[in-house]
Amino acid sequence: MTSKYSFTPPELPSTICYLNGEFCPLAQAKISVLDRGFIFGDGIYEVVPIYFGKPFRFEQHMNRFQRSLKELRIENPFSNVEWLEIINTLASRFAESVNQKVEDTNQIIYLQISRGVAPRDHVMTKGISPTVFVMTNPLKAISPELRNAGVHCVSAHDFRWEKAHIKATSLLGAVLSRQMSADMDATETIMFRGDNLSEASSSNVWIVSNGTVFAPPKDNLLLEGIRYGLIEEICGEIDIPFVLRPISRNEVFNADEVLLSSATKEVLAVTKIDETVIGSHTSHSGQPGPVYKRIYKAYQNYIERICKNTN
Ligand code: PDD
Repeated sequence: MTSKYSFTPPELPSTICYLNGEFCPLAQAKISVLDRGFIFGDGIYEVVPIYFGKPFRFEQHMNRFQRSLKELRIENPFSNVEWLEIINTLASRFAESVNQKVEDTNQIIYLQISRGVAPRDHVMTKGISPTVFVMTNPLKAISPELRNAGVHCVSAHDFRWEKAHIKATSLLGAVLSRQMSADMDATETIMFRGDNLSEASSSNVWIVSNGTVFAPPKDNLLLEGIRYGLIEEICGEIDIPFVLRPISRNEVFNADEVLLSSATKEVLAVTKIDETVIGSHTSHSGQPGPVYKRIYKAYQNYIERICKNTN
C-alpha cells in the first residue's frame, strides 16, 4: 500500500559519503530498518569543521567521540589515522565534485557510529558490527550581516536528560528545544536547569561580565563543545580572564555580552534573549560587544595559523 502523503521530499545533496567500508552517493546510501541507530538512537556522532582542506581540532573531536562511545560501550572500529584517511578521501572527493582544490574548500564533516543491526531489544546487543557513516557538506559561514547584527535567542527550561555530555544521535531534546526558537524566528534556545545556565539546543553559551568570559562548568548537564578548550586557549593568548563556574539566569540576562559557540557558529554574539536586550547598560547595547569582536578575530587568526598552507 502506498502512503496517502505525496509531498515532494527536499532534494538531498549529491555528494559522496562513506557507509560501512564503501564510498557511494549520499542519496543511494541505505541502512537496515533494524539498525539500532534508527530504532533507538543508539549511536554517537561528531561534527568536525574542515578549513582550507584540513580538519580543525581533529584530535579533540576524536577524543570526545571516544569518550561518548565508551559511555555506550561501543568499540571504536578505527584508529584516528584510519578516520583521518576516510575524512581526507571524502573531503578530496567533495572538492573534485565542485572543481576546486581541496585546500580552497571549507567543509563540515559529520561522522556517526551506531551499535549496529539486531532484532529490537533494549539490551545492548553484543557481537554485532557497528554501522559507520560519514558525510561532508560545504561549511556555510554565518553571513557578515548576522555577525555584525548579532542574533536573537529564546530562553527555556532545560527538559533534556542528565547525560547531556554524551554526543548521542538520540537528539529529540535538541530538536524540540531548537524548534522553540525556530518558531519565534530566533537562532537558538538558551536553557536553564533551575536557576543555572546549561547550554543551548546545539551550542554552548558564554557570558562576558566586566571583561571576564564565563561559562558553566563541564559536567554531565551539558555537552563540552570542542570550543570550550579552544576559547580557553584563545582567551589565554589575548589576555582575557576565563572562568568556568555555575552561572545564574540573572547573570545571563544582565551580562555585558552573551555568546554562542559551536563548530558551525564558531563564536556568535547574542544581542537579545526573549524581550531582553543584552548589554543595555553598556555603550554596545543590543550589538555585538568588544570581547566578542576580539575573540572572533583571534578565532579566525587561529584557523589560518593551524589550517592554511599546512597540507
Ligand atoms: N552541535 N552543545 C550541544 C548540545 C551541541 O549539540 C553542540 C554542537 C555544542 C557545541 O559543540 P562544538 O563546539 O563541539 O561544536 C554544544 C553540533 C555542531 C551539531 O549537533 O550539529
